Amino acid sequence: MTRARACVSQVAAARRGAISEALDTSGARRQSRDAVDDIAAYYRNSNEDGRADIAQLEFAVTERLLAHYFPAPARLLELGAGSGRYTERLTRAGHAVTAMELVPELCTAIRARLDQAGLGGRGTVLAADALLCVSRRPRQSR
Ligand SMILES: C[S@@+](CC[C@H](N)C(=O)[O-])C[C@H]1O[C@@H](n2cnc3c(N)ncnc32)[C@H](O)[C@@H]1O
Repeated sequence: MTRARACVSQVAAARRGAISEALDTSGARRQSRDAVDDIAAYYRNSNEDGRADIAQLEFAVTERLLAHYFPAPARLLELGAGSGRYTERLTRAGHAVTAMELVPELCTAIRARLDQAGLGGRGTVLAADALLCVSRRPRQSR
């Protein structure tokens, strides 16, 4: 199974409650759930799209880096997609993007954005916690 597919299946399992229940058995994990809830609350009330006006340099540099590192159409997993600024750009460039975003309202905004840009139906937008994609297996030393 490819990494992207494995990740999507993990999210599907989490949606069914299997992983969330497992995470809730540890105090440390519960703390991290609280932190994730705080992050979601922050971004739910932020104007992510409005950052374009005050973060022009950041966006210009990121655009160049994306074009440099992802020149050819590829399958990309975008974690923390926000309002979908880069989702749109990467999808327009021909990549198959899976955009994962914690805040469901922002996921709705991403889908609307892709629709408006005539890119609806391409790629996947998932309302999910990207931490579920992080392997909890200890690292192997080389
Ligand atoms: C600073 S914004 C950047 C948004 C977008 N990448 C951009 O540059 O325009 C960070 C985004 O990551 C999302 N995020 C933070 N933690 C996340 C998590 N654990 N899983 C998924 N999304 C997360 C937030 O909700 C927020 O929309």
